[in-house]
Amino acid sequence: MDIKALKSSNLKGKVSIPGDKSISHRSIILSSIAEGISEISGFLTGQDCLATLNAFKKMGIKIDQHDRHIRVHGLGLNGLTKPSEDLNLGNSGTSMRLLAGLLSGQNFSSNLKGDSSLSSRPMNRIIKPLNKMGALISLEGDTAPIFIKPSRKLNGISYELPVASAQVKSCIMLASLYAQTETTIIENHQTRNHTEKMFKKFGIEIKEKYENKQKIIKVSPPKKLNPTNIKIPGDFSSASFLIVAGLIIPNSEIIIKNVGINSSRTALLKVLIEMGADIQINNVKDDFEKTADILVRTSELKALVLDEDLVPNLIDELPILFIAASFANGKTIIRGAEELRAKESDRLEAMSDSLGNLGIEFKNYRDGIDIFGKGRFKSSVTIDSFGDHRIAMASSIACCMLDGANTIKNVENIQTSFPGFIETCNFLGLKAELLK
Ligand code: S3P
Repeated sequence: MDIKALKSSNLKGKVSIPGDKSISHRSIILSSIAEGISEISGFLTGQDCLATLNAFKKMGIKIDQHDRHIRVHGLGLNGLTKPSEDLNLGNSGTSMRLLAGLLSGQNFSSNLKGDSSLSSRPMNRIIKPLNKMGALISLEGDTAPIFIKPSRKLNGISYELPVASAQVKSCIMLASLYAQTETTIIENHQTRNHTEKMFKKFGIEIKEKYENKQKIIKVSPPKKLNPTNIKIPGDFSSASFLIVAGLIIPNSEIIIKNVGINSSRTALLKVLIEMGADIQINNVKDDFEKTADILVRTSELKALVLDEDLVPNLIDELPILFIAASFANGKTIIRGAEELRAKESDRLEAMSDSLGNLGIEFKNYRDGIDIFGKGRFKSSVTIDSFGDHRIAMASSIACCMLDGANTIKNVENIQTSFPGFIETCNFLGLKAELLK
């Protein structure tokens, strides 16, 4: 499936965006092992989160779904049952890595598999700590499928994360629910903290401490999880495509409503404001996750040198930051972003290919890129998104700045995180159309 995009201007209006992907996954996982009924509203009905939802249905959990409202009938820490077939997690790295942790603590065996992109992403990063806990989990090489056997007991470990990854952290935290002793996780770079917040919401005892630049998390195995109700905010990562569209497309003023602004996710705002963006954060509400309405107006952007320490906080927003940098004055320097190579595609490669087709000058590095903004943009370009939702959406926004009829290819996977992307873009005035 392709998108055709034409030069756009005058974006106007207020929109809501789909629910947060990270929080949606976690809300299904924890409600399923809580004792009783949890109600979830604002659930992201994208394919990734549905893969998690269906996996729990296959493990005997009753889940009622009415559009974005979900009722989960949790069966307690030991209430899951052996799935009758392999669990297929599609394109979703979060489902695979988080479920691997949870399933390592069950008294049944299970196999996890995914699509060709997911089957090429590194998994030893979770196997190592889980094996250290005594889990009987294995792979062939470094990639899925993952084979899990019941282990007689898991032990708590102390583990310093070798990569800045919320998925690895959350995988260990979920396994630690089934350990006999306390587990300690040490983060050298802070990653999104949704699992920590949600553990507390379900009544799990967890301690968080900051020492020097490290974060230390301690989880004590709980007796049970209490069911709860969860209001999921709009996904900041999805909002980021619209935020940058509002900044670079001439004569625009847009509002994105009810966006999650958890501070472990919003470094992009800080970076864009430093680049000269006119962004206002209004109507801030502090539920268990903070939310706000984000007002964006067209702005003259200038390049910047990205602080490497911010990379884990804006890892999913880097593709669209590359686009903001492409329309900024000067040379933007991004380093410390090698993790981009381990995403749904090699995002450094894929975005370089996209920038090249747009007519942007850039220089590649193993762990980053230099982008020379405001180049000689081409017209009527064709860009391949390599089946990666974030490359597809970032490239679509960029193409709405070019003359001619522009094509973005291979965009099906936008469905994994942002169902209704094109409709939302059209509502604001972006001239983009899905070609089936
Ligand atoms: C996620 C963590 C990040 C992010 C992904 C969602 C999560 O991955 O890129 O989209 O929900 O924990 P890593 O942990 O691999 O950085």
